[in-house]
Amino acid sequence: MIEKIFFTTKETANYLGISPTTIYRMEKKRLISSTRTPGGQRRFTRESIEKYLNTSHAIEAPQNPSRYKKTDLLIREVGTEYSTQAIQPRAQSFFELGSIRIYCADFLTTNAVDDDSIDLIVTSPPYNVNVKYNSHNDAVTYDEYLIFTRKWLSRCYKYLKADGRFCLNIPLDKNKGGQQSVCADITSIAKQIGFKYHSTIVWNEQNISRRTAWGSWLSASAPYVIAPVEVIVVLYKNEWKKASGSHESDISKPEFLQWTNGVWNFNGESRKRVGHPAPFPVELPKRCIKLFSFVGDTILDPFLGSGSTLLACLQTHRAGIGVDIDANYCATARERLILEKNRQPLI
Ligand SMILES: C[S@@+](CC[C@H](N)C(=O)[O-])C[C@H]1O[C@@H](n2cnc3c(N)ncnc32)[C@H](O)[C@@H]1O
Repeated sequence: MIEKIFFTTKETANYLGISPTTIYRMEKKRLISSTRTPGGQRRFTRESIEKYLNTSHAIEAPQNPSRYKKTDLLIREVGTEYSTQAIQPRAQSFFELGSIRIYCADFLTTNAVDDDSIDLIVTSPPYNVNVKYNSHNDAVTYDEYLIFTRKWLSRCYKYLKADGRFCLNIPLDKNKGGQQSVCADITSIAKQIGFKYHSTIVWNEQNISRRTAWGSWLSASAPYVIAPVEVIVVLYKNEWKKASGSHESDISKPEFLQWTNGVWNFNGESRKRVGHPAPFPVELPKRCIKLFSFVGDTILDPFLGSGSTLLACLQTHRAGIGVDIDANYCATARERLILEKNRQPLI
């Protein structure tokens, strides 16, 4: 796949989550620069966009007061749309069980989650590997995928508390439809948004074989190298040391010793068993939750799928918020939570 070098004004606006008019104003103020096509149309290079993003925390994008004058509640963030969510009615939950809530909504637009309210995010977003989801296109261009990634990561950032953490389960590389360094690209977008990097856990999903192509068999001409692993990138907002919360940990000594070794070995989850095309096993969010949060903390999964993260919340006595765009997957998550609740001994 050829990486795009030049972006139109509309593409740049979409990428930054702001209007084309704002782009023109930014250009006038020399906050971003463009070149012109022979026909006089603006083209923005990836470099100039990244340069703006790297400095944009200190810069307010110029706003058109007539368009936004009623909205002193206006929220601006790099990588998401302008939002007047404070004046919209609060999202209705799809299901609630004690301190666990499911929202059937698009994470890019929902107002289900409050800013600065989340202790830990554990999630596995769509990987853009052509999984047949009910309500999401998992086969867009790599550039489009990174735009989507920037948008939802920006939302995650504002929802986290200052000492909030983020366990992001993503592929290491993409091998089908062009080689891509997915983990490196997403991590660098996260850092541009403001996330701080802590470490990367390698998950050796033992029952998965990703060997579909060898390239040039037994020849150095063009062999394919594939690591049959996924990763969990551990990020945080401002401070790694946790100040908020109950300060009660529920991790055992053997768990702590084993899980602080950053190579995790356990099987993937069966799609058929849980009724979802790309689930992770409950073991994954359970480890992240016990290692990185206190009992009673609030955990968010913006791509809930079959509800694995909320099952782990139920098992570990954390509050949980899960969002998924698809009502059938939300219903699957609800059924799994009810089953798990009925399975738990009465205290
Ligand atoms: C990799 S799956 C998550 C699987 C989950 N970890 C589990 O164990 O079942 C990604 C999920 O993201 C959901 N999704 C895709 N786009 C979304 C969006 N804009 N907002 C909310 N959910 C979305 C899909 O419906 C899908 O269920």
